[in-house]
Amino acid sequence: MIEEQLKPMDRNDQSPTRQIAESALAAAASHNPGNWISHSRYAAQACENIARACQDLDPEKAYVFGLLHDIGRQVGIVKEQHQIEGYHYCMQKGWGAVAKICLTHSHPLKDVSKKRGEGDLSPANYAFIKQFIENVDYDDYDRLVQLCDCLSLPTGFCIVEKRFGDVGIRYGVHEHTVEQWTRVLEIKAYFETHAGGSIYRLLPGLCENMIH
Ligand SMILES: [Fe+2]
Repeated sequence: MIEEQLKPMDRNDQSPTRQIAESALAAAASHNPGNWISHSRYAAQACENIARACQDLDPEKAYVFGLLHDIGRQVGIVKEQHQIEGYHYCMQKGWGAVAKICLTHSHPLKDVSKKRGEGDLSPANYAFIKQFIENVDYDDYDRLVQLCDCLSLPTGFCIVEKRFGDVGIRYGVHEHTVEQWTRVLEIKAYFETHAGGSIYRLLPGLCENMIH
């Protein structure tokens, strides 16, 4: 079950508007074009559509969070480092809630040690992320982006089970893989309860993209 309740966003946080977020992603695309741009756009659309089907979620805010969750990739080809790059970029802009998403989207399990190692993170950045994730409360926006990250390929939407298989084949699996998959499926079930049905019905073109 989802143990944390939805908490109101910090009213002092200045999240960007949809237009400003779009401009930020367009600028990022000019710095480092790649599949991550279209992945981000699909993730944003998934966040918006699912949020609209749920009560108590703001579709505009959800869209912005989905659009900017990987904004740290604008610095170049990076792996886990994209979390910290996105966090600092958004904090400099005064977008604290988006900065939080830049870190939380990669950790459906609130245990950083269950990810696949430190990747390209320095020990200091790994320690920062670990402390942040362990001490922050996840809200429904964090969970929504964690889910939509798994629903969004650069070519369009997919079911999470396909995403699991693709990632597993490409990068291999490890001792915590099944726990991670189970968590994402729990989050999916949580939003389906709130949305009153399958979230896959909220993702236009999913079937076409799956058999493409
Ligand atoms: Fe992503």
